[in-house]
Amino acid sequence: MRLSDCHNFQDFRKLAKKRLPGPIFNYIDGAADDEVTYRRNTEAYESCDLVPNVLAGVENVDMSVEVMGQKLDMPIYCAPTALQRLFHHDGERAVARAATKYGTMFGVSSLATVTVEEIAQIANTPKMFQFYFHKDRGLNDALLERAREANFEVMALTVDTITGGNRERDLRTGFTSPPKLTLGSLMSFAMHPMWAWNFYTKPKFDMPHLSGYVSEGTNVAVSVGNYFSTMLDQSMNWKDAEELCAKWNGQFALKGIMSVEDAKRAVDIGCTGIMVSNHGGRQLDGSRSPFDQLAEIVDAVGDKIDVICEGGIQRGTHVLKALSVGAKACSGGRLYLYALAAAGQPGVERALGNLRTEIERDMKLMGITSLDQLSRENLRFRETA
Ligand code: LAC
Repeated sequence: MRLSDCHNFQDFRKLAKKRLPGPIFNYIDGAADDEVTYRRNTEAYESCDLVPNVLAGVENVDMSVEVMGQKLDMPIYCAPTALQRLFHHDGERAVARAATKYGTMFGVSSLATVTVEEIAQIANTPKMFQFYFHKDRGLNDALLERAREANFEVMALTVDTITGGNRERDLRTGFTSPPKLTLGSLMSFAMHPMWAWNFYTKPKFDMPHLSGYVSEGTNVAVSVGNYFSTMLDQSMNWKDAEELCAKWNGQFALKGIMSVEDAKRAVDIGCTGIMVSNHGGRQLDGSRSPFDQLAEIVDAVGDKIDVICEGGIQRGTHVLKALSVGAKACSGGRLYLYALAAAGQPGVERALGNLRTEIERDMKLMGITSLDQLSRENLRFRETA
């Protein structure tokens, strides 16, 4: 199987599975507990049908959107994700270049493996910084200032990782950051020599935004669940979020909002966006899917704040369904991470290109020429048992 054989999400997933050592593939692919929420995130789109119109003259379609003050050439962007250097030796650089090519936004995590300064040199497309609220207040201040200095346009405070999710695949494989050299992991590296060669011969794995503040994750091997549970501040509350939002004094989102009550509070504290998300099913299993939860949130705050739908998106039609409900844009992690692992920058470009082609084709088949023509009128929800 080669990159040219990858036509959809599942194809990239298969290629990533071939390329990556088992523990690393399962870190991306896995979720919390029984992974019910992870599956439901995508199934939710399948329990909703589109009703197309025809004869609409659709030779030219415009799929650009404006979200949190950023103009994007397509309605989906690369959600921030951690540790990308583990998946491909170019890490975040590859994603930044691919997102720039497609004129869409991409996120860079506090737990990224390339600096915000380097990313800013590479990308001339909107950039989101994903903030993790650490116990170490010096680190928190440093993260905010670094992202500001590097001209990141959007700040997103992660609010759904107050403690580590129970990722049982990681427990089984022993996945840690950085990878621990155990008999099992050495065997899986030996079976993936290209990955191992690139990992050990290219510049050393590092999480540069944390350097000088915490060693866990860079020099001390920990699971991601453990990192969240021990390094992040579990006392984080609305006052902290409000202060951070005021300090940033620009486009500011809460990432991981699921309830209407919280969406309203996000408006009250001055946020300009919310990412409706359950962290890809990796935190609270049994949590509702973002798409199922979208309508009530849009009804409550959609005219006051930009609502972004994140999670489970595998197809262009999924994006059109979320936009029909009232999301301003969508985002996803695995949809470009498998592609990154499969083939680096050309992989991510192909994944974004496939989505762009699908969205364009689906818009034409829906009989629309711009995304604001979508509405709940063109959706029907099936009865679910
Ligand atoms: C995860 C974090 C790091 O879900 O976003 O693994």
